[in-house]
Amino acid sequence: MGFVRKRLHVAVLAILVALVASAGILTTHAFVSKPEVPPARTAQVVPMSVEELGKLLFFDNRLSGDSSISCATCHDPEQAWTDGMALSAGYRSTLYFRNTPTIMNAGRMPLLDWDGRFAAGDMDSLIRDHLAEAHFMNVDGRLLVERMRQVPDYEAAFQEHYGSDVSYGKILNALSTYVSSRNSVNHPYQGFLYGDADALSPEAKAGLELFEGKAGCVQCHGGDLLSDGEMHALGVPDNPEIFREPLRHITFRRFFRLFGVPSYVSMRSDPGLYALTFNESDRGKFRTPSLLEAARTAPYMHNGAFETLEDVVRFYNAGGGQVGNTDPLLIPLELTDDEVDSLVAFLSSLGSDEGFTSIPERSPYETRTLGQN
Ligand code: HEC
Ligand code: HEC
Repeated sequence: MGFVRKRLHVAVLAILVALVASAGILTTHAFVSKPEVPPARTAQVVPMSVEELGKLLFFDNRLSGDSSISCATCHDPEQAWTDGMALSAGYRSTLYFRNTPTIMNAGRMPLLDWDGRFAAGDMDSLIRDHLAEAHFMNVDGRLLVERMRQVPDYEAAFQEHYGSDVSYGKILNALSTYVSSRNSVNHPYQGFLYGDADALSPEAKAGLELFEGKAGCVQCHGGDLLSDGEMHALGVPDNPEIFREPLRHITFRRFFRLFGVPSYVSMRSDPGLYALTFNESDRGKFRTPSLLEAARTAPYMHNGAFETLEDVVRFYNAGGGQVGNTDPLLIPLELTDDEVDSLVAFLSSLGSDEGFTSIPERSPYETRTLGQN
């Protein structure tokens, strides 16, 4: 009997507590809307490699300040990872004053960028520069991290690979892993090197002989990458577009002002390595690019001065340009028209037959409920 009464007391107490609690909820509910139950965040990450994560980022335009461009806008896989233009377009409302190089084989180059301002193995710094620079992607690092943290797929992928939340350093690492995985494979020249004598046409073979002999190209374009990775002045003609288009010239001025180049306002020529060293002998020096994709990466040179490979070969045939510090290796080559054609045929064989790169689908934002960050 006593036991039953005690149970009754407990039950009455429970009902009272419930009533008070629900009254509380009802009254507050009248004034403040009840927070929604957060929907389950729908990460759909199929186990992916860091390289694939980097690929997602590479094609994601949320990596630029106004979400209008991605890395792939300028480094387009359909155009051998370049933009196909003489001079890069730059971030919206700016224009850049150099040609967009391919990202292929960049991970193996000893120096990065036309003026060699990033060292081998410093791909992360180059990518940080690309993300932050007003003329490339113009995105604030903290804003970028916050954006990425609101995408469940990214959140899950970073947890999976790095065991922690999305961070700027890890975004750089994933992008750099992807970029460094873009290497030239399956091209005729490579086939030829591995012993397939028919991989090159007879004309291209004659061109290769000139490349290594009479034309002397191999002195700078030697080794696996067809580049010595060094800096040389060739006296490539200036591209007047840089000074004709105000937006390009503004970027040019701002860039060299930042480096502290004194005459940046009146300068009418890209000083190249000089901006980094201030040695007069470095004026107009640029990094020897790899030629492994040369057939697919027109226009050529740091400023897109040459539209075709024939233009390039004719430039070398004349002994390069005449500047005070033109590299002594450049001398008039006296190639006949047939020899010029052969050399062009060889250069035209330099390009891999990369398959179509599927563009990954962008997974949507699902912002976290307040208080759950
Ligand atoms: C607005 C166009 C543009 C965008 C966007 C862009 N790049 Fe570039 N990229 C360039 C240009 C131009 C250069 C050469 C810069 C120079 O030498 O002054 C370059 C150089 C590079 C290089 C050096 C290649 C070499 O062989 O030296 C790499 C690697 C690279 N970009 C990767 C990226 C990645 C990764 C992203 C995205 C985070 C990106 N780029 C976004 C235009 C762009
Ligand atoms: C003294 C070293 C040197 C020699 C010799 C040399 N090159 Fe170059 N090459 C370079 C440098 C440096 C650049 C980049 C120059 C610039 O952008 O201003 C370059 C650029 C190129 C490019 C443009 C690649 C691109 O992606 O824009 C091609 C093509 C090329 N060279 C082919 C040749 C051929 C063919 C020969 C032989 C006839 C040759 N080179 C001889 C150093 C050299």
